[in-house]
Amino acid sequence: MFSIYVTGTDTGIGKTLASCTLLHALRGHGLRAAGMKPVASGCERIDGVWKNADALALQVAGEAGIAYADINPFALEHPLAPELAARDAGIELALPPILDAHARLALRNDAVVVEGVGGWAAPLSASLMQADLVRALRLPVVLVVGLRLGCLNHALLSARAIVADGVHLAGWIASHVDPAMERVDDNIAMLRERLPAPCWGVLPHAPGGDPMAMEAYLRIPLLAK
Ligand SMILES: Nc1ncnc2c1ncn2[C@@H]1O[C@H](COP(=O)(O)OP(=O)(O)O)[C@@H](O)[C@H]1O
Ligand SMILES: [Mg+2]
Repeated sequence: MFSIYVTGTDTGIGKTLASCTLLHALRGHGLRAAGMKPVASGCERIDGVWKNADALALQVAGEAGIAYADINPFALEHPLAPELAARDAGIELALPPILDAHARLALRNDAVVVEGVGGWAAPLSASLMQADLVRALRLPVVLVVGLRLGCLNHALLSARAIVADGVHLAGWIASHVDPAMERVDDNIAMLRERLPAPCWGVLPHAPGGDPMAMEAYLRIPLLAK
């Protein structure tokens, strides 16, 4: 079983794009792969069920026929920090429903790609950090670095925090989210030198961000031929 937790240098930097691209790449290797967004804030009511755009994108990119509730056990209406969105919805966030949903996905698939919330230190609740979830699931982490000015600081701090939390940083993926960024290649070279894990790929800037088209830019070490 291949399961990985996708975190990022921030919110809005390419985690969903990278997660969907990972799903396409895994399925391209003939694996049954499912996406998961355990906690999502910012949902729309669709046919009476709160659904989140990231979770829906992961559902589309993953194996067909997976229940939405397993992909996204906590769907919170307001686009706020999960702690606030859960409080507004009167929901108590807890690990067991997430662990159960992940176990069901892992049982029926060869790979699970779990997209986190915001950046690594974004709390899930007043008493739960993402590190708690990742340790409970025993997952390695891949860090998505949104390529823009300031990304070196965000990437190095994130990597340091992930390692300090006792979690394995298995790799990082760059996403060229800001087309105006200057000296992109130099920045990638500096990231390569300084991050304590291998680069799995650089997703180029492509407006509309189609994960299917990005698959060729990823190389997942465990699957590399
Ligand atoms: N490499 C890229 N090229 C073009 N647009 C990108 C790229 N990476 C991310 N984006 C865009 O940036 C926005 C945030 O990306 P997303 O994957 O949703 O980030 P996150 O999941 O980290 O919040 C989306 O509109 C997405 O299409
Ligand atoms: Mg996302």
